[in-house]
Amino acid sequence: MKAAAEMYAPATSRRSFDVERVRADFPILNQTVNGKPLIYLDNAATSQKPAKVIEALRRYYREENSNIHRGVHFLSQKATGEYEGARKKLCSFINARSTGEIIYVRGATEAINLVAHSFVQEQIKPGEEIVISEMEHHSNIVPWQIVCEKTGAKLKVVPINDKGEIILEEYEKMLTPKVKFVSIVYISNSLGTVNPVKQMIEMAHEQDIPVLIDGAQAVSHARVDVQDLDCDFFVFSGHKMFGPTGIGVLYGKQEHLEKMPPYQGGGDMIKSVTFEKTIYNELPYKFEAGTPNIAGAIGLGYAVDYLNDINLDDVYIYEQDLLAYATEAVKKVDGLRIIGTARHKTAVVSFMLEDVHPHDIGTIIDSEGVAIRTGHHCTQPVMQRFGVPATARASFALYNTRDEVDALVQSINKAKKVFQ
Ligand code: ALA
Repeated sequence: MKAAAEMYAPATSRRSFDVERVRADFPILNQTVNGKPLIYLDNAATSQKPAKVIEALRRYYREENSNIHRGVHFLSQKATGEYEGARKKLCSFINARSTGEIIYVRGATEAINLVAHSFVQEQIKPGEEIVISEMEHHSNIVPWQIVCEKTGAKLKVVPINDKGEIILEEYEKMLTPKVKFVSIVYISNSLGTVNPVKQMIEMAHEQDIPVLIDGAQAVSHARVDVQDLDCDFFVFSGHKMFGPTGIGVLYGKQEHLEKMPPYQGGGDMIKSVTFEKTIYNELPYKFEAGTPNIAGAIGLGYAVDYLNDINLDDVYIYEQDLLAYATEAVKKVDGLRIIGTARHKTAVVSFMLEDVHPHDIGTIIDSEGVAIRTGHHCTQPVMQRFGVPATARASFALYNTRDEVDALVQSINKAKKVFQ
C-alpha cells in the first residue's frame, strides 16, 4: 500500500493575503454582540456571505425574478441565463467535464440521498456492502443505513485512530469483492482531519468500487479538482462556501448519471409526458424536478466568483498558518484537550475543557461575542469514539485573524475561571 499523500498543499502564495480587505467584504462581521465585537468561529456550521453574494440575491428578487426554462419573455430569459451561468462557473470551479455533471440540489445531504436512492439502492443486493468511515457526518451515515434496511445490504465502518485519522490498513482490508460502494468525507467537520481521498479512491477503483466524496467542508478551504481525484460522485453545500442556504451541488460522472433513474418526478425533468409514457429530460435536468432554488443557484455562482478572485491557494496557506497559531494558543490553556490531532488538518479546533460541559463553555464564550459550536456536530459516532458527549468547536474561515484566536483563548480562560 502506498503511503498516505497530502492531497493539496500549494507550496507558496502568489501574493500576500490581505485579511482586512477580505473582512471588509463581509458586512455581518462589522457588528457587536453582547457589547463586544463579533468573533465568528462557527464556519463549519455555516459561513458568512460576502456583499457580492448578498447583492446578487437582492438584485435577483428586485430586478430579475422569474421562472426559468419556461418563458420567452425578457425576465425568464435573464433568470435562465444567470441560473445556467452559475452552473458553468461551478463546473469550472471543481473542474467537471461538462455542465451535465453538475446537478443542483438543496445541499450535500440531499446529494448523498440522491446517490443512495438512484445509484446504490438500484444495484446493491442482500449481503453486499457499503463502506463509510467512523468520522462521517450523520448525512453520510443515515442514507446508507436506509439503503441497507431496504435491500439487506451491510454497512461497514472503517475505524479511525486516536488522532482522528482513517486507518488505511483497515480500509484496504475492507475492500473485498462484497463491497459495492464507498462514501467518505474529505474533511471532517468535527475533527478537521483531511483524509487522503485521492489514495482511497484509487484503492477502491482497483477493485472496481465507485466512490462518493463528501466535500461539504472542503470547497471553501482548498482547490478541488474532481477529474484529478477521479471520484465518481462529489457533493457540497453552497452555504458552507459563502453562498446561500438551500442550494448545493451533486457532481457525478456522466456515465453514472446517465444510467441513474430520476430521484423525483415533476416539471422540468421531462422531455414529454403522456399517460402512457414519460420521457425524461437530459442531464442535468433529469434530476431537477420542479421550480428550483433559482436565487440560491445564482448567489452560489457569485460565491464561486468571490473565491476565484481571492484565490483558494492563498486561502489554504493563510488558514494553515491560522490553524497552527490557534492550535498552539489553545494548547496553552491548562486542562484543555484537543479532540482531533491528525497530521493533515484544516481550520477546525475541537476541544474539551476539564469536566466543564461544552455547552457551558459556549454560553460563557458567547457573552464575550465569540461564536463557536458546541455539541456532537452531527457526528455522534465520533463523540463515542473519543468517549465524550460533545465538544466545543472553533472553526475558522478566510476572514478570521490571529487577534480573534487570542480573544477566543481569553474567553476560554474566563469560562475556566467561572467553573473553577
Ligand atoms: N454539519 C454542520 C456542522 O458541522 C452543521 O456544524
